[in-house]
Amino acid sequence: MILPIYTYGQPVLRKVAEDIDENYPNLKGLIQDMYETLEHSEGIGLAAPQIGLDIRLVVINLDIISDDLPEYKGYIKTFINPHILEYDDTHTELMEEGCLSVPGIHESVRRPTRIHVKYQDENFEEHEEWAEGYLARVMQHEFDHLEGTMFIDRLSMLRKQMIKGKLNSLLKGNFRCSYKIKLRK
Ligand code: NI
Repeated sequence: MILPIYTYGQPVLRKVAEDIDENYPNLKGLIQDMYETLEHSEGIGLAAPQIGLDIRLVVINLDIISDDLPEYKGYIKTFINPHILEYDDTHTELMEEGCLSVPGIHESVRRPTRIHVKYQDENFEEHEEWAEGYLARVMQHEFDHLEGTMFIDRLSMLRKQMIKGKLNSLLKGNFRCSYKIKLRK
């Protein structure tokens, strides 16, 4: 089932999300719905707050960019209870980002190129690893959603000023996008 994406202004996007366990109701179905929603909106990552749930659950599909980055061929992965343990600040990189919850806005964000993360997979097996490159970028963007943070928070004061009008339009519902959304009432 394709779920509506909660857009900028929805309070759930500003909450710190909670860990879940195996008993979370209909978790498999929910994950399936998140993949369908992600595919429908042609995104590469989706965090549960973006579909209105304040739980630590993220799906990432890098397979759709594997024409450009072949190392991610087949990379479709679910992250349960992810946490960033450490940022390697040795190298940072500026890269343009967008977000399904902030349609129509694309801005460059500076982030570390390497992070240490822990998470559980769909079978609740524990994983701990260093991620780098594009994957580390996407993880930081998605895992930020679980802390109530969005990429627009990480822009310079100047860029924030520049996009203020667009953000106000988002709040008013004065925009178009190709997928189903849920606006703040
Ligand atoms: Ni996002």
